[in-house]
Amino acid sequence: MKRIVVLLSGNGSNLQAIIDNINAGNINGVIVAVISNNPQALGLKRAENENLETTVLNHLEYDSRNHFDAVLLEKLISLSPDLIVLAGFMRILTSKITDYFDGKIINIHPSLLPLYPGLNTHQKVINNKDKKHGISIHYVSSELDAGPLIAQAAFDIKEINTKELLEEKIHIIEHSMFPFVIENICLENIRWNKKLKKVIFRNMGTINDSIQRKYEI
Ligand code: GAR
Repeated sequence: MKRIVVLLSGNGSNLQAIIDNINAGNINGVIVAVISNNPQALGLKRAENENLETTVLNHLEYDSRNHFDAVLLEKLISLSPDLIVLAGFMRILTSKITDYFDGKIINIHPSLLPLYPGLNTHQKVINNKDKKHGISIHYVSSELDAGPLIAQAAFDIKEINTKELLEEKIHIIEHSMFPFVIENICLENIRWNKKLKKVIFRNMGTINDSIQRKYEI
């Protein structure tokens, strides 16, 4: 069983999808802790409902990003995670953490990276009259919403043209893609090869099938 730590800042619907897949026996892993920088995050309640260990590290209580990250790093080390999942964690991690856990941290982001790192991705897609939108799952580097891509899922926007509808669609995709990727990381079908600096896929059909799922509306 892989030891999974989830970091989040808000609603935690992706955490819930991961929990549901673990409970259904789809993921060979156990969530050993849920950590939030936001004491009000609904995701903490979801974790408590499942009797998962929760920790709040409120970034506002630290005098600098370095100080916050030093405390977070210490906490993460104490948990000996195989995988750290950023599920709506709205903080940039410094290289202290990303180097220590190189190839062990993954993030989900609501855009087709490298398009639109950062916030308000749905509004940017609307403003730019994009024809496609989607999600990206990637290994984490110290750059915002960057790092080697593991998987992307795209859909044609067509009549889904409000922020709310885009967000709803994105969440539906996230809740199936993220557990799918985590399942395959726990099976070691997806891993980061440090020497080759490459994501390696195994037993997953063609890389195209794995990395780019198309979603029809
Ligand atoms: C998700 O849509 C995720 O892609 C996004 O935050 C949302 C969290 O939803 N992450 C980022 O924007 C990271 N840059 P949730 O709290 O309901 O899981």
